[in-house]
Amino acid sequence: MSISPRTMEEVSTLGLYLPPGPVDEILIPSGTISDTNRPLYEVVAQYGNTVHAVINGVPIIATQDPQIITYVLVDQRKEFLHGYGSSLEAVFDGSWILLPHEPHRDARRKISPAFNPTSLSGLYSTIERVIDSHINEWLSKGNFSCIEACTGLTLEVIASLIGLPKSDYAKYRELYPIISNGAYHPLGSTELANSIIARTELIQMVARVIADRHNNPANDFTSLMINAGFTDQQVMSQDIVLGFAGHETTRKVIASAIMELSRHPELMQGIMHERASENNLSNVTFRPTKNMGLTNRIILATLLSYGPATLLPRVAQVDSTLPNGFQIPRGWQVKLFMESMHEKIFGNRDFDPKRFLDPTDEQRKHFAPFGLGPHACIGVGLAMQEAFLVLQKLCDYTWQTTINPSGKLPKDIEIKNFSRI
Ligand code: HEM
Repeated sequence: MSISPRTMEEVSTLGLYLPPGPVDEILIPSGTISDTNRPLYEVVAQYGNTVHAVINGVPIIATQDPQIITYVLVDQRKEFLHGYGSSLEAVFDGSWILLPHEPHRDARRKISPAFNPTSLSGLYSTIERVIDSHINEWLSKGNFSCIEACTGLTLEVIASLIGLPKSDYAKYRELYPIISNGAYHPLGSTELANSIIARTELIQMVARVIADRHNNPANDFTSLMINAGFTDQQVMSQDIVLGFAGHETTRKVIASAIMELSRHPELMQGIMHERASENNLSNVTFRPTKNMGLTNRIILATLLSYGPATLLPRVAQVDSTLPNGFQIPRGWQVKLFMESMHEKIFGNRDFDPKRFLDPTDEQRKHFAPFGLGPHACIGVGLAMQEAFLVLQKLCDYTWQTTINPSGKLPKDIEIKNFSRI
């Protein structure tokens, strides 16, 4: 449910105390959602950690301050609802992740068991089988696009955890890029229309799995959600969300780690040594802890340098007063610059697994590549397990990467001569 944002006139009549920002509205040509965020980074660079701006008529508060980010995501979470935007909401239509605070919390409680360590350990062999089959495919190709390969792998992990039959994997793989692409284009665009058509097709595939699971329960997410009491409609939209949230993110992390490993052969040696000495999958964590294993540190370093969640969006449900005294007017968008916040607390975001050997208290507290609070990533355990398994398996192989210098990472990484050592 959208609430109309307070106008500047109301803000001034009520005497709300805004953080600094440009007096004039910023006008940019209409385009993709990410375009509208770019000028905000300049405003933050010019005016300070927490700023306000009006961009194309939309009033926004942006911040890279860790305290304010925690305030919005955790302490005063009920005052802020997700702000995904109408295109993403159309793609996620019907999912519990869009619900207001309390129904969201109740639905999340029901689905959480699917992602706890016990469930994940039951799914381990499925995940491993998918990874092995993809690495074999990479071997037979030798040269391939890294992001394409990682997209195929991460999507198939989700497809198999949802319970789709193998015969549907190719179609699933074909539909997802169309669904994802639409989510980043405005309402009324052809891309979003195509995305909704592809989504409908995907829902039909998922509906067949749901119908089957009512009679033949299996060890997969779909059965788990049916058992938890979700309606068929909710399971369908949830399966769409899992595919979206689970592959766009994880593929970027795995592809970026693959690139860094080819630049740092000594890390490959280290992973090989670690793999031989102990099986530490159960210790894998997204929380920086002292003396954590090398593979885990490589994943955290990759999340810091190339983490997909650069910005988390929220919308203020009430006039809210921040700990530093500034106020966020009701209905205003709130953009939390996670990447910039990480850069501040770590000094830079250069890839360096050593920095996680002995993280400071501040780094431990504020490192949040999977978000914070009630909407924090539900699939964190799955993502960490998947990345860990891929990296440990890759030490039996060798490859080179080439990167188009003008390209956007990790989209332009090409793998050459992928072969067994
Ligand atoms: C490296 C991989 C991943 C990263 C960095 C990541 C990051 C995030 C972040 C930052 C959020 C919070 C969004 C917000 O607060 O607005 C989130 C939410 C979510 N993630 Fe992930 N994610 C990853 C993998 C996955 C996987 C594998 C799945 C499931 C298969 C998943 C499912 C979800 C869902 C369902 C939510 C919404 C939770 C809610 O609203 O309660 N994610 N993720």
